[in-house]
Amino acid sequence: MNTNTTDNFSQSLQAPEAEPERQYYFMDRARQLLREKIRQAGRPLTFCVVTFGCQMNARDSEKLKGILERIGYVKAQGEEADFVIYNTCTVRENANLRVYGRLGYLHSLKKKNPHMRIALCGCMMQEPQVVEKLKKSYRFVDLVFGTHNIYKLAELLVQVFEQDSMVVDIWKDTDRIVEDLPVDRKYSFKSGVNIMFGCNNFCSYCIVPYVRGRERSRRPEEILKEIGSLARDGVKEVMLLGQNVNSYGKNLPEPMSFAALLRKAAEIPGIRRIRFMTSHPKDLSEELIRAMAETPKVCPHLHLPLQSGSTRILEKMNRRYTKEQYLELVGRLRKAMPDISLTTDIIVGFPGETEEDFLETLDVVEKVRFDSAFTFLYSRRTGTPAASMEDQIPEEVMKDRFDRLLKRVQDIARECCARFQGQTKDVLVEQVNEQDPTLVTGRMDNNLLVHFPGEPSLIGRMVPVHLDSCRGFYYLGTRRD
Ligand code: 5AD
Ligand code: SF4
Repeated sequence: MNTNTTDNFSQSLQAPEAEPERQYYFMDRARQLLREKIRQAGRPLTFCVVTFGCQMNARDSEKLKGILERIGYVKAQGEEADFVIYNTCTVRENANLRVYGRLGYLHSLKKKNPHMRIALCGCMMQEPQVVEKLKKSYRFVDLVFGTHNIYKLAELLVQVFEQDSMVVDIWKDTDRIVEDLPVDRKYSFKSGVNIMFGCNNFCSYCIVPYVRGRERSRRPEEILKEIGSLARDGVKEVMLLGQNVNSYGKNLPEPMSFAALLRKAAEIPGIRRIRFMTSHPKDLSEELIRAMAETPKVCPHLHLPLQSGSTRILEKMNRRYTKEQYLELVGRLRKAMPDISLTTDIIVGFPGETEEDFLETLDVVEKVRFDSAFTFLYSRRTGTPAASMEDQIPEEVMKDRFDRLLKRVQDIARECCARFQGQTKDVLVEQVNEQDPTLVTGRMDNNLLVHFPGEPSLIGRMVPVHLDSCRGFYYLGTRRD
């Protein structure tokens, strides 16, 4: 990690052009400005980063926190802080509505605290109509930036400190990846690692390609260097992150497959488990199945979004696989890894979805028997092809299908979960149990949670645990070593 660049630049008047040096220069500037504000306030100034949405956003938030800490802000417990950032999601409409709702609350806090600054960033900010609305009706927001310039927080913050009006910096797209900025990790023993950004798939319902831009892969040397330094820091489990990890590396100057990256990552000493998210069924290669099966550190768990079980709807979704191809892929995965846990995402109520189409989805659910599934009501996203398709499904029909699907998915998940009862599994301990402090909670390689009697000192350790009894979606166990 590049930690000692700051002082080199503290004396220079001109901001360097190159990154990350430019950002270290601005972190230094921001720290000086903040020091003066802390003196005026007569107390430390605090920050709070609130994350909506997916693992990518969670990782981005760790980067934002890393920068704010370096500038001199202190972490607050809640949103009653002096600098609040909402890192937003826009994949479904209700995520946006939640942000607008909570902004009202932030405004009331700001009226009571003259030091308070409010920033919004992330996917929702990449939508032009959102930014227009903020400029018109939410003038109390101090800073608005998007998904492509997260790394610039310090530079933008200096602007906020130096000007009175709202600072807005949104880029339509970028090919830039800035490495070596500070990160404040949520967990000491596990971490997300970005391997690529953006998505080129343009599934017809999805706004992600518009707000996260085109696919760009990080260079393998940078990824492996980061994992190596995480391992030296005590991290045992990494989650490789991308919207579509199976197309990793295709556009690198020296192309490299995701399977090859997995094998390389597994060579890093200290790393015990490797996970990844998300895979697109159309790009899941035989080479990857082999790499997963042959590399013990790669967890026997795959999140493989189905979206719909109807070939007709899959085509309208632009998913580029059929029901049969999906089932065949699952067959190959299970053949190579009989115990693999499969999880998925399913959308109900896509435009034109008939009862028969829905029954096809249920049929795949019955055949695959997912270990768990995230189910979503179709949400109409402005600017996507599906938003202007005819035959949008009435809400009551969607809800009825959703309830039927959820019931089946949950019953099957409960049955799948129970299949490990009586076995002893390695568990990575994550935290003291929230309900009962005599228990700790950890995760098995297949992502299932286990609660068992243990001391807080076990957090971050991998221990064998006997799975005594399955309680629906988790286990109660006993330590065995
Ligand atoms: N409506 C409902 N669900 C959606 N997803 C993406 N776009 C939409 C939408 N417009 C779901 C998909 C995807 C997950 C991250 O969110 O299932 O896999
Ligand atoms: Fe959206 Fe499809 Fe890309 Fe996933 S693969 S982010 S669903 S466009």
